[in-house]
Amino acid sequence: MGTQTTNYDEARVPAYGLPDPLIFNDGTPVTTAEAWEARRREILALFEHFMYGIIPGLPAHQSFEVTSVDETALHGQATRKQVTVHFEDNGAAESMDLLIYLPNASPGPAPLFVGLNFMGNHTIQVDPGITLSTRWVWGTPEMGVVDHRATGAARGGAASRWPVARILERGYGLATIYCGDLDPDFDDGFQNGVHPLFPRNDTNGDAWGTLGAWAWGLQRALDYFETDDDIDAARVALMGHSRLGKTALWAGATDPRFALVISNNSGCGGAALSRRRFGETVRAINNNFPHWFCSNFKQYNDREDALSVDQHMLIASIAPRPVYVASAEEDVWSDPRGEFLAAKHASPVYRLLGAEGLPVDTMPGLEQPAMGTIGYHIRPGKHDVTLYDWERYMDFADHHFGK
Ligand code: GCU
Repeated sequence: MGTQTTNYDEARVPAYGLPDPLIFNDGTPVTTAEAWEARRREILALFEHFMYGIIPGLPAHQSFEVTSVDETALHGQATRKQVTVHFEDNGAAESMDLLIYLPNASPGPAPLFVGLNFMGNHTIQVDPGITLSTRWVWGTPEMGVVDHRATGAARGGAASRWPVARILERGYGLATIYCGDLDPDFDDGFQNGVHPLFPRNDTNGDAWGTLGAWAWGLQRALDYFETDDDIDAARVALMGHSRLGKTALWAGATDPRFALVISNNSGCGGAALSRRRFGETVRAINNNFPHWFCSNFKQYNDREDALSVDQHMLIASIAPRPVYVASAEEDVWSDPRGEFLAAKHASPVYRLLGAEGLPVDTMPGLEQPAMGTIGYHIRPGKHDVTLYDWERYMDFADHHFGK
């Protein structure tokens, strides 16, 4: 996806100054936790207006239909629940399918990881009990091109990214939703997915895009968790990879019910600082994925310095809840150093709130995780989610969830 002008040279990163999360738009400093709450709302309004668009609240009607429960799933290790969440509003009806595994060996309501998947719930595990998604996936005729990821739509095609047995063994549940239930990932003018549930008004350039719709779906999943006695809704860790990692940060920033947020290789528009213009830039992301962000964001192509926010402020707006940012050495398109620096520059907000922030000042070496209230690691290898990543997320969750 890179072009010849993509910069991968640290020496050519332009000089830049970051906006200070602890200074109000009018120049007043933020010195107390109470004032931070007001500043946080200001920051989220900036992100809404200039970047991700406004996420609506509940639809007029939302209901949960448990379509299957199997207490003997995965050779008895798990209880598998499948739940269809129905939405109705604005003359439209839509739904999303939740796949949930809960550990049979751990008593009581289970803490849970939740994340969207790229290609259908049935891709995360070879488990014949998972309902096959019949939704659009990359590579079907609507898109007009064949995308290599279509091959991943086989049962278990993405299983290497979802170590379900290990997650259960460590006492966690796992829930996932296919992002395409909420909005198929192509530029169609928001005719499908959940967008039609709400009247669209883009007069101010801040109507929601695809990342917004995905984030909204995660928040609706949390609505369901709150009703399920087998799930500990106060200990839900939100995890996302890449475009779904951008989504996890945005969903977690805007909904404090998520107890912990994890960004795996989320890059531009996720954890990476936009002002560094290293790897993927604002122009590149807006050109390649015009449907992800709101219309206003396009004004910042090649004008990153004019943005009133940068991505450290997105991480900061999750404070004091724990956030983990992870990079991969070969994933230069996502700018690992920019991801680290955003985590670091979010730390003053955590410290103001009496939390630790990131415990290191300089970027750690490979496989040297740093874990405070903000966590960070970089591992060898490519843009992906690996067992190493998951083990660290579970270490981090163990610590913060008091396990
Ligand atoms: C592309 C895109 C990234 C995104 C990634 C992914 O590389 O440019 O912004 O994170 O796809 O979602 O895998």
